Amino acid sequence: MTKLFREGKSWLIISQIENTSDLEHMLTTVDPFDYSEFTSAKGINSQQNYILPPSWLPRPEHQVPPTWPTVCDRYTMIVQKLLVDNCLMPFNWHRLYAKSAWTVQGQAGSYHTIHEHGPNSISTILYTAVPPRPQDNSDYTGSVYFVMDGSSYNDTAVPATRVMHINPHPGMLIVFPSFILHGVYPQSSGLRQTVNIDYHGNPDFEYGLGTAGSTSYN
Ligand SMILES: [Fe+2]
Repeated sequence: MTKLFREGKSWLIISQIENTSDLEHMLTTVDPFDYSEFTSAKGINSQQNYILPPSWLPRPEHQVPPTWPTVCDRYTMIVQKLLVDNCLMPFNWHRLYAKSAWTVQGQAGSYHTIHEHGPNSISTILYTAVPPRPQDNSDYTGSVYFVMDGSSYNDTAVPATRVMHINPHPGMLIVFPSFILHGVYPQSSGLRQTVNIDYHGNPDFEYGLGTAGSTSYN
């Protein structure tokens, strides 16, 4: 089942992937270098490993998992279909391409500080493992949260942010614009593991050079 949540210019698509065995197999071959010292993945038992490292973290000896191209193709098509079906594919993007990908493993006490993934891209989180939590989870143990900005485009309007909490489960896929602030509350015992892919788009045209959607002013 897929759900779309919108607050002004903020949105989340939450969907479910039925079979993640290809991801789980790929995760056994991920480069073991831990980047959590440099990222939002915090807590004594937190680890972040890049699958496809971003250009700002060059590390010549990095090994991309051999099945990454196949896995990436499958998930890119899934995410692209979700965007198109929900009319959220950026208007000048012809197709998605992965610009970076990583996996996070968290155990007791691990969490993510609040952060965003920058402008002009689409971010995704896919859960391959989720620790147990209380049935009602009123203390938000291990919950991921998003600061949705439903503010009016009127510069003088009162800000209208709202925090959305999500209790993940294995196979859950969350798609969102990279500018949304988000984080994860500390988890209890057990393993939380995610695969995260950030996408850029191949534009149909360059701003100011093409004709589609162009404007002029004299
Ligand atoms: Fe994030």
